[in-house]
Amino acid sequence: SLHTVTTLPTARQPGCPFDPPAELIDAHRHGPISRYTHPGGKPGWLITGYDLVRSVLADPRFSARKELLNVVDFEVPPAPPGEFLLMDDPQHGRYRKPLVGKFTVRRMRQLTERVEQITANCLDAMEKAGPPADLVTAFAKPIPAIIICELLGVPYEDRGSFQEQVESFLSGEKSDEEQIAAYTETQHYLAELVATKRANPTDDVLSDLTDSDLNDEELKGIALILLAAGFDTTANTLALGTFALLQNPDQLAALRADPSLTDRAVEELLRYLSVAKSFMRTALVDVELGGRTIEAGTTVVLSYNTANRDPERFPDPHTLDLRRQDGGHLAFGHGVHQCLGQQLARVEMRVAFPALLNRFPTLRLAVPAEAVALRPEAADIHGVKSLPVTWDV
Ligand code: HEM
Repeated sequence: SLHTVTTLPTARQPGCPFDPPAELIDAHRHGPISRYTHPGGKPGWLITGYDLVRSVLADPRFSARKELLNVVDFEVPPAPPGEFLLMDDPQHGRYRKPLVGKFTVRRMRQLTERVEQITANCLDAMEKAGPPADLVTAFAKPIPAIIICELLGVPYEDRGSFQEQVESFLSGEKSDEEQIAAYTETQHYLAELVATKRANPTDDVLSDLTDSDLNDEELKGIALILLAAGFDTTANTLALGTFALLQNPDQLAALRADPSLTDRAVEELLRYLSVAKSFMRTALVDVELGGRTIEAGTTVVLSYNTANRDPERFPDPHTLDLRRQDGGHLAFGHGVHQCLGQQLARVEMRVAFPALLNRFPTLRLAVPAEAVALRPEAADIHGVKSLPVTWDV
């Protein structure tokens, strides 16, 4: 039978901060594709099956273009110049290509030492201040924030206010007005930054790009995308990942005992948490999918987090198993839009998790697990608002 999901759920099941909302797991039990009504009232489809999500992401008959999103009654403007996440090729490739060389495995490995220093500084400050601490503000946010600021060449003295602005429009916790104000402020800041780099190039990605044929408006858009995509995702994977490890003491002990498990542990945490929960694509022509016809112009929701819990692809999918061998998760997406910053994200997590666990062998939650406040489901990226932790001194 064809299952229907009328709106996306607004909360997770109590006591299950890491699992996709029950409605999505339930929809998947009926099959990998469900009828779905977008919040704006438009009919669409919800895709929860691993194979189907992957096939849509690899299929050029589905578009990521913002102006094609068919979810609300009013017309949606196209993505501003440079914001290539919501564009198709060739426009998308024109922006992505000059960036690829800056985010290679080799380039990111070279950053490892810097990530180690930044992480050590955060841990030093935590240790000095003594327990308890909020792991989000002391550890999970500053590491990716400092790294992305260094990549973009944001001057040191601007970092605090810059990070605050970015958080205000990404966290999903502020009012619409506050979010728009913060977004506008960030735009202004980045426009000035681009002008500064053009006049006085320094050693960073943004300065490098001033050598290309991209104009200032486009560079600003690229900077905004790197920021929006690279900061909140990594910060939430670090905080929620620590929470998940603390809630799975046997897994935590295994990781502590065997550092060679780190790379696999990071992949499993990415799969298990899938903080970048879902993205949308719009059919350009009629497409047959899982025995259904997706009509041209219809927008589908791809639930990456439910697909990463598909029992046909990942045995015992709701168990965090750091020794899991079956890679291929969709936490970074798939296809032409697959995460540009994934090697950077991996370096950050492979350094930060073990460093935290080594520094604080008795790390534990400072409040009952049920008291840890989650972000609302309305936020694009899943995570915790804060994570109170403590340790023995
Ligand atoms: C795209 C997840 C870290 C930059 C994506 C997509 C996902 C994702 C799922 C694909 C979106 C789609 O299918 O439409 C994550 C997660 C991260 C992370 C879970 C951390 C744990 C980063 C970092 C950066 C970054 C550190 C850069 C500094 C980007 C960019 C895109 C992207 C630029 C757009 C690629 C394109 O449209 O071609 N990310 N990301 N991400 N990510 Fe990440």
